[in-house]
Amino acid sequence: MGQAVIIAASSIICALVLYKVYRRLRFKLPPGPRAWPVVGNLYDIEPVRFRCFAEWARTYGPVMSVWFGPSLNVVVSNSELAKEVLKEKDQSLADRHRSRSAAKFSRDGQDLIWADYGPHYVKVRKVCTLELFTPKRLESLRAVREDEVTAMVQALFNDCTKPDESQKGLVLRKYLGAVAFNNITRLAFGKRFMSDEGVIDEQGLEFKAIVANGLKLGASLAMAEHIPWLRWMFPLEEEAFAKHGARRDRLTRAIMDEHTRARQTGGAKQHFVDALLTLQQKYDLSEDTIIGLLWDMITAGMDTTAISVEWAMAEVIRNPRTQEKAQEELDRVVGLDRVMTENDFSNLPYLQCVAKEALRMHPPTPMMLPHKANANVKIGGYDIPKGSIVHVNVWAVARDPEVWKEPLEFRPERFMEEDVDMKGHDFRLLPFGAGRRVCPGAQLGINLVTSMLGHLLHHFRWTPQEGIKPSEIDMGRIRGWLLT
Ligand code: HEM
Repeated sequence: MGQAVIIAASSIICALVLYKVYRRLRFKLPPGPRAWPVVGNLYDIEPVRFRCFAEWARTYGPVMSVWFGPSLNVVVSNSELAKEVLKEKDQSLADRHRSRSAAKFSRDGQDLIWADYGPHYVKVRKVCTLELFTPKRLESLRAVREDEVTAMVQALFNDCTKPDESQKGLVLRKYLGAVAFNNITRLAFGKRFMSDEGVIDEQGLEFKAIVANGLKLGASLAMAEHIPWLRWMFPLEEEAFAKHGARRDRLTRAIMDEHTRARQTGGAKQHFVDALLTLQQKYDLSEDTIIGLLWDMITAGMDTTAISVEWAMAEVIRNPRTQEKAQEELDRVVGLDRVMTENDFSNLPYLQCVAKEALRMHPPTPMMLPHKANANVKIGGYDIPKGSIVHVNVWAVARDPEVWKEPLEFRPERFMEEDVDMKGHDFRLLPFGAGRRVCPGAQLGINLVTSMLGHLLHHFRWTPQEGIKPSEIDMGRIRGWLLT
């Protein structure tokens, strides 16, 4: 019996090794760091992945193989290859790799973000393009955005004028997080879970707990995520995922029911939940898809905007000349008697350049979202077998000295000298990706970031905490700005 087990185990191992050798000989894979048996390169990857991959690309080149256990990940790091992935070979590379948690959360791609490219994806994407993210809807939700930014300015003003607080400095992240939270929940669910005093109601607390639990579950898989045969060692997840899904559905259904009742008495509103319920029949959307789409907006739209503004503010404080120039422009165009609105953007070119430069240097999704090859395809002359996971390191592309002058300098003026598109048409600058999976919320994201940044600079003057010179700010630890 014991002998039979040993023979069976060795046959499986031999078959696996032979299959790997066959794959490597059959395909001319991109170069990459030496992979260890079983774990591949998992133990060599540094915690800040995009920096680590950018560093490795210096040795192995702009298209590189990295093994996450037995899965081949291909990382591209220059604009030419980004174009090949996101434009020329876009159709073969538009599937999504779903981690186990993403697969569970999205009911195996019933949403948009985690759906493979196919009829379901095309339908849902059409809902986004033709219905949810139209210029008209963007405009009709403008009042919500301006309302929230104004509330942020008010909260900042109240906190920094409290007599004993004025010299302590503020953790800006808290305020940016609140604007992003209120904006996205109002946009998606048509509800403000937070009172004017900043107190979150019961539904809001449940919402926050679900978001936090989702993050915890997503992060808990680590090694078993990448090495499928290790998964038996982590049985707890199934139950936790099921509970999480049920909790999320319960809350969303309760909100959807409220909207259905409200629509019976009054007209439909512009929020996504109302729009989706109204369009459910027209596009044949299942309830799972509506719930999935609403949560996609939360996942994709909340932290991305807050993180972008936090980086932008860090750069502005580190570069006082930029702050002065942006404020001079705001004072000249908007003046001191009224507040800025989105209508002013077209007359504030420097402010727009500051937002763009921040998104160049600090894209909040530095490796975009993982794409997957649905066929054998070639990138940069190398073979990319069907099923490989493909990443574009947009952080590295936007800092490539081959295509950017002084790429490590925060210099918004570069975009006054040359207007570079950032919504997927110029492959040097891809904070929103490009091609068929480009971020559908790009314009909304840009408006939110520019608006938050504009208000912060128009209403306040910002300095680092006492004793720290702007040039000494550690960009690895941004918090606690002092505003005057
Ligand atoms: C500064 C803000 C934002 C940035 C930098 C950003 C960036 C991105 C990136 C890089 C992708 C992946 C593209 C790809 O895989 O090729 C993406 C996808 C997506 N984003 Fe955004 N995003 C932002 C804001 C938003 C907002 C506000 C929303 C909606 C409310 C949103 C909704 C989505 C959705 C639904 C997807 C999935 C698209 C798909 O798979 O087809 N994003 N975003």
